[in-house]
Amino acid sequence: MTASVNDLITLTPKDSCNTKLVAGPWDFDTVPGYGPGSSQADQLPDPVSRPGQLPERYQLMSDTELDERIVAAKATLGEELVILGHFYQRDEVVKYADFVGDSFQLAKAALSRPKAKTIVFCGVHFMAETADILSESDQTVILPNLAAGCSMADMADESSVETAWEEICETYGVDPEHVVPDAEGKLPILPVTYMNSSAALKAFCGRHGGIVCTSSNAATVLEWAFERAHRVLFFPDQHLGRNTAKAMGVALEQMPMWNPRKALGGNTEEQLREAKVLLWHGFCSVHRRFTVDQITQARAADPQVKIIVHPECPMEVVDAADASGSTDAIQKFIAAASPGDSIGIGTEINMVNRLAAQYPDRSIFCLDPVICPCSTMYRIHPGYLAWVLEELVEGRVNNQISVDPKVSSHAKIALDRMLAAKPKA
Ligand code: 13P
Ligand code: SF4
Repeated sequence: MTASVNDLITLTPKDSCNTKLVAGPWDFDTVPGYGPGSSQADQLPDPVSRPGQLPERYQLMSDTELDERIVAAKATLGEELVILGHFYQRDEVVKYADFVGDSFQLAKAALSRPKAKTIVFCGVHFMAETADILSESDQTVILPNLAAGCSMADMADESSVETAWEEICETYGVDPEHVVPDAEGKLPILPVTYMNSSAALKAFCGRHGGIVCTSSNAATVLEWAFERAHRVLFFPDQHLGRNTAKAMGVALEQMPMWNPRKALGGNTEEQLREAKVLLWHGFCSVHRRFTVDQITQARAADPQVKIIVHPECPMEVVDAADASGSTDAIQKFIAAASPGDSIGIGTEINMVNRLAAQYPDRSIFCLDPVICPCSTMYRIHPGYLAWVLEELVEGRVNNQISVDPKVSSHAKIALDRMLAAKPKA
């Protein structure tokens, strides 16, 4: 069995991308930068449970004790509880999940258990918000550690996107609050937000004829958008937007970057008029670590090696790989490979290690030699899970994610459009 990422980090701190991760997550949680409110529109529970304030007894419990407590609390809560876990969660958490999947599958899983009173989401903030928006109004969504945000999601905030929208609409000579179709029946522009964004931005898309996408349906969603509009404003991940649109035949010159710190996003009016996809200046700090050099080295070491990467990786990396796809697509690629195959993966280390352990007859490795977990996914530790579950057994809800109903109703429009979008036959 491959060592868990916890062990790897503890064993090789100097090889980790973030030495702060060597400490327990409760120490790491007190590092400024993340916490309740780090994702905009975060409704703070009252009383606020600050990250790093996990009751000390849970910080001191052994792995065995935490395991026994989680198993017992889960058994007591029975059908009332559903635990969802993203592929990037550590093994020590994934083993308790009723559903494990990519962000699209987990959004659908949240819809599939309307009878469960509580959804405990072992993932990051935007995923728990989405579960709250899609679930029934009498269901409660809990994020075990409120400090589990997503740095990419935070790269697009509501007011910067509103400002960008106004400037862009002004360039096209349309009212930003009332963009209407032209003589061809198409809108000049519509917004597309990656699932990795706040509920407020999903609501923005809902209000402006836009839609949400995930890495598993981005091409379908862009097709949907181009049927209705001449252009899209795609946020926050420039790489997913560029990789997807490029594969659909959109020229790079027609995909200018929108830098929210610059006038007209750093573009000329002409560039904006010629654009098909305006790419927000966001990225994932885990996936941008993957490089073409790593792929070249892997191929030099083994010319038969197959390479698959997540589409949040830079374009040059996706182009140099044999395949790219969502976390679920990566999982399927590995499952479809043959014993003896060698596969280099460009995605988060917990998932790569789990696949390597699941398929010991294949040689599976992470392209990045430096161990780099998603530092926010990592914040869901069994200690937090044991705490929120035992509190639930006592009838107390901690770390609830509750999206404002007005935001939620508009965000749901954009999410429902995504759920209804089907790939062209
Ligand atoms: P998936 O939709 O592929 O699960 O990706 C979510 C994510 O955050 C990847 O960094
Ligand atoms: Fe966000 Fe990147 Fe972590 Fe995914 S891997 S949750 S995009 S920071």
